[in-house]
Amino acid sequence: MYIGVPRETKPGERRVALVPETVAKLVAKGHSVGIESDAGTSAQMPDALYAAAGAEILPDAQSVYDKADMLLKIRAPEPAEIPLLRPGTVLVAQMMPLLDPESAAQVAKAGAVSFSMDLMPRITRAQSMDVLSSMSTVAGYRAVLQGALLAERFFPMLMTAAGTIAPAKALILGAGVAGLQAIATARRLGAVVQAFDVRPASREQVESLGAGFLSLPVADGEGEGGYARAMGADEEELERQALADPVKKADLVVSTAMVPGRRAPLLVNREMVDSMHPGAVIVDLAAETGGNCELTVPGEVVVSDGGVIVDGRLNVPSEMPLPASQLFSRNLVTFLDHAFSAWIGDAKDKTQLGALPEGDEILRSTCVSFGGELVHKATAERLISIGR
Ligand code: NAI
Repeated sequence: MYIGVPRETKPGERRVALVPETVAKLVAKGHSVGIESDAGTSAQMPDALYAAAGAEILPDAQSVYDKADMLLKIRAPEPAEIPLLRPGTVLVAQMMPLLDPESAAQVAKAGAVSFSMDLMPRITRAQSMDVLSSMSTVAGYRAVLQGALLAERFFPMLMTAAGTIAPAKALILGAGVAGLQAIATARRLGAVVQAFDVRPASREQVESLGAGFLSLPVADGEGEGGYARAMGADEEELERQALADPVKKADLVVSTAMVPGRRAPLLVNREMVDSMHPGAVIVDLAAETGGNCELTVPGEVVVSDGGVIVDGRLNVPSEMPLPASQLFSRNLVTFLDHAFSAWIGDAKDKTQLGALPEGDEILRSTCVSFGGELVHKATAERLISIGR
């Protein structure tokens, strides 16, 4: 198979779907890999590294799309890329079809067989293909570093000849993958860390990282598949009340609370922000889905009237493009190993692909489009619900 990697064109996207290490792995398995010139430059990986790993460097996106049987991307194709898609080409990316059903519909219409890595089922077998976990790991780490810089204060307790400086107080809301990484990072910096999550199962993980788990009078929020459920408006209000005091005392809040396919829960309202001291920081990793803080402006860092900094930066993993690309591409290659053994087999190119195997949970769950149809049911429903 000819596997192509175009340069990402979404503004601000610095990651790339394959890194030289994973190119070499695919080449060793007998595949040809073509990469658009400069595809890895913004992630600190120049063309020469890809060429040394065995990739063919292609001059532009058109030649990648023309040659490839399979395209690997970080993002769903941008509108300008859709006309380049050839029918039958396999596209694997983090398409986020539930947030962006229109791009998914365009890809289906173009006849591509597409798989979205963010739809990976959270089963043990698929853990090594889970890009959401990989990207959350990067985001959780980066959020604390960003927060520490914005806070302009020491995080550890310092004992100096000029006296003692108290350690920073970090509060992490949502203790999933990003939250746990944020806890570990804030602890390494020396902060005193507290955390909260509506899934009671997270308490043990929080405590094992040396952070305190807040005992709050909030209902059990365990939902399906290891995720949280959406809380009712009353439950969210109770949670905000319970969080008011810990938020007020925090120097840094990193909020990561999300519910798949929903707007992020509103955990910190304006009044709570106003109760914080000037210079306190909120890094809202849920900004992508509306934000956990009422003052969050997605894509911006804003300062409240009371001097509290609210960071709603988007696509945080792209701010560490090298490790983020490394993790993403390893997840991709593991997924491809599965796709080749369970479905693609010895097919030499895209014209020889058969139907997806019945009952293959990994392929069936992640498949967005096949044979010109949008086959991912929830995406098709979302499209109808927004009137398209
Ligand atoms: P996520 O990104 O959807 O949400 C982040 C966190 O926010 C979750 O822990 C969730 O419980 C929490 N949250 C949601 N609403 C909240 C609220 N109102 N207040 C406070 N916290 C709230 O979830 P993520 O991080 O992707 O994973 C969640 C779970 O899935 C974790 O238990 C994780 O260990 C598990 N997981 C399982 C995998 C597997 O088996 N393959 C792979 C990755 C994660």
